[in-house]
Amino acid sequence: MPKFIKVELDLVNINQNDIIKLQPQIISQDKSLLEKTWAWNDFLGWIDVEKIISKEELKEIIETWKYLKQNFEKIVVIGIWGSYLWAKAYINALKNNFDEEQIIFAWYNLDGEYLKDLLKFLENKNYAIIIISKSWTTLEPALTFRMLLEQLNKKYSNDEVSKRVIAITDAKKWVLKELSIKKSFKTFKISDDVWWRYSVLTPVWLLPIATAWYDIEKMIDWAKDMKKYIDENYDIFSNPAYIYAWTRNILLQNGKSIEILASFDLKLKFIAEWWKQLFWESEGKDWKWIFPTNLDFTTDLHSMWQYVQQWARNIFETIFIVENDNVNLKIPFIENDDDKLNFVFWKTFDFVNKSALNWTIKAHKEGMIDIIKIIIPEISEYYLWQLIYFFERACSISAYMLWVNPFNQPWVEAYKKYMMTNIKN
Ligand code: PA5
Repeated sequence: MPKFIKVELDLVNINQNDIIKLQPQIISQDKSLLEKTWAWNDFLGWIDVEKIISKEELKEIIETWKYLKQNFEKIVVIGIWGSYLWAKAYINALKNNFDEEQIIFAWYNLDGEYLKDLLKFLENKNYAIIIISKSWTTLEPALTFRMLLEQLNKKYSNDEVSKRVIAITDAKKWVLKELSIKKSFKTFKISDDVWWRYSVLTPVWLLPIATAWYDIEKMIDWAKDMKKYIDENYDIFSNPAYIYAWTRNILLQNGKSIEILASFDLKLKFIAEWWKQLFWESEGKDWKWIFPTNLDFTTDLHSMWQYVQQWARNIFETIFIVENDNVNLKIPFIENDDDKLNFVFWKTFDFVNKSALNWTIKAHKEGMIDIIKIIIPEISEYYLWQLIYFFERACSISAYMLWVNPFNQPWVEAYKKYMMTNIKN
């Protein structure tokens, strides 16, 4: 029997009856998500993990990553946020902090300085490109791709360039698809019924992840485990997605409109970035939202912590707690204790880090801050896939509870449209 991610609560002042009253709403909204019977159900393809990718597609992805891995010194992934942040976050969580990666995520923005440095860095390297854009309405990846493609075109024949580009885009014949057909680039599709930031178990995420040597065949099963666990549990006090959704909802009703995701594990830094993007674009609409932000502890115990403890009580904190750090790095004993640190000798870094965590929670309680604990057994591939499915499901339920459509982002689209059409004027 596998272990699952748990959600535990330390809430200041919540009325049990308010929670019980929400039970029918949560269950019926989750049911309408699963059965795709409510409004906004055009982009729910991600929910059926088992159907999202076919065996043939999976085989093709595996063949492609082997080809990329063996033939190129660097693989540059171009895209922006919802189109690949999880892949970046996932690889970051699992890799050695100082490993030089074969994969480069060229994701930043429209900063010419960054692109100039990237072009210089790649100039004499043998590299391939994975370009990800579902809509091709985003100028950031589109322009970055144009610049890199130009560099490749100057160095190689058309035939050779075509072997160096993989395009992941919408199945319809939109610009990137047409361009890929014309130039003979290999393509993978993002299904029509999957919204961008929910496209986790599609080539969008799987190809870059596979390219970094992770076992994508198993990933589908791991995400399925979490789906089954959520699907089969109608108890709002033990289903992790339900607990997270109702707690946020009740806290918002009680005026807690800022959620801070805190982590004591550096490897979860980009997972927090991904989480922010997921909730910002899914829930941040119609003036009803919780504002999600994040802190890296213990670093930020030397900065924003001061503010959190004594700011208005409209804050609540969600904390990642990793049970087993798997490191066992011990602090040595030093003769004479010149640095006066022998008081922690033979303790592990995990012990010291957890002491900071426990102290932080205690101080939060004294400061009347509501706490949601997301308990992760360990940072491993298995639990990261549980985590992603848990958050996607909880985020959609939470948005439904606010009567907000999680599968759009009108102001992001307005910005894209302006950049793609009006900028020339
Ligand atoms: O998550 C989202 O929906 C967005 O952030 C998109 O992923 C992002 O705008 C990129 O879009 P595209 O893949 O069409 O370039």
